[in-house]
Amino acid sequence: IIAAFHAKTLAGKHVLITAGPTFEPIDPVRGITNLSSGKMGYAIAQAAWEAGAIVTLVSGPTALEAPYGVRRIHVQTAQQMHDAVMAQLKQQKQEVFVAVAAVADWRVANASEQKLKKTGDNDMPQLQFAQNPDILATVTAMPNPPYCVGFAAESENLLQYGSAKRQKKNVPLLVGNIGHNTFGKDDNELVLFDVHGHTILPRADKQTLALQLVAEIALRTSLM
Ligand code: CTP
Ligand code: CA
Repeated sequence: IIAAFHAKTLAGKHVLITAGPTFEPIDPVRGITNLSSGKMGYAIAQAAWEAGAIVTLVSGPTALEAPYGVRRIHVQTAQQMHDAVMAQLKQQKQEVFVAVAAVADWRVANASEQKLKKTGDNDMPQLQFAQNPDILATVTAMPNPPYCVGFAAESENLLQYGSAKRQKKNVPLLVGNIGHNTFGKDDNELVLFDVHGHTILPRADKQTLALQLVAEIALRTSLM
């Protein structure tokens, strides 16, 4: 067992993780979603378990197997992901919350119960949107929140946007990556933003980066 070789730096701590995309229906056969394979979030769940944590993974639709030892809860929409996260926090105090999921910012407000039919060349469905709850913001606003880690996939200006997003999201640690470097890939390059500035975790496979990130989280929560 690989786990035997890892220091149990999160021994007995409860770690809650969101991962994957969310899927927001348009009708029973169509929907809108975000780009995310779930690989980074699943790798973090596995690494946290290897570090001795009790891990719950709230996952949107992905093609991945549940990591060994990790309890996985399946959800589809952002609202369901929000509700599942809140239910977990109510049931069990969590020391760490890592929001890795690529949550759809909007859902279709006028989703149809029946499959929409093509009726003519000039007759398109008119979709209306409503904003989804911000799961990370809801958790950070709780009294006595867990140690919260946010993610940001940006397409440009990562150093500037990442630092601004950490402050806006009010999290002690925000992990940034450049979208086209990571989507669907097995490796990635991460930038960690905290109150002191930023640190780069050089390009590596997602398992290696996950172990490094979990070590950073363990260090930062070891006095809590
Ligand atoms: N997040 C969340 N719930 C949402 C949206 C985002 O929990 N409804 C979390 C993500 O999991 C991530 C962090 O917030 O950890 C940042 O997500 P991101 O989409 O980069 O930030 P937004 O505030 O939605 O800003 P943007 O307009 O850039 O999408
Ligand atoms: Ca967003």
